[in-house]
Amino acid sequence: MVEIIVCVGSSCHLKGSYDVIQRLEELVAEHEAEDLVDLSGSFCLGSCGKGVTVRVGEAVYPDVLPDDVDRFFAECVKPRLGV
Ligand code: FES
Repeated sequence: MVEIIVCVGSSCHLKGSYDVIQRLEELVAEHEAEDLVDLSGSFCLGSCGKGVTVRVGEAVYPDVLPDDVDRFFAECVKPRLGV
């Protein structure tokens, strides 16, 4: 199980947390990986940056933008899923 936490704190919310979560949910479904991913939201993860902060396992990515979620998923999530 891969834990993905998307920050919904005020800074990240303004940069598109909701859109990031929605696209991640779509990508997880497209890869039929619902049973492999635990996707949730969190208040400020303490890494406010240029984009939305997303934690995948212990790795923190502070600059995920809504139009960059597909690349992020392919590079940072998919390899952990083995799909
Ligand atoms: S509000 Fe998202 S890391 Fe601070």
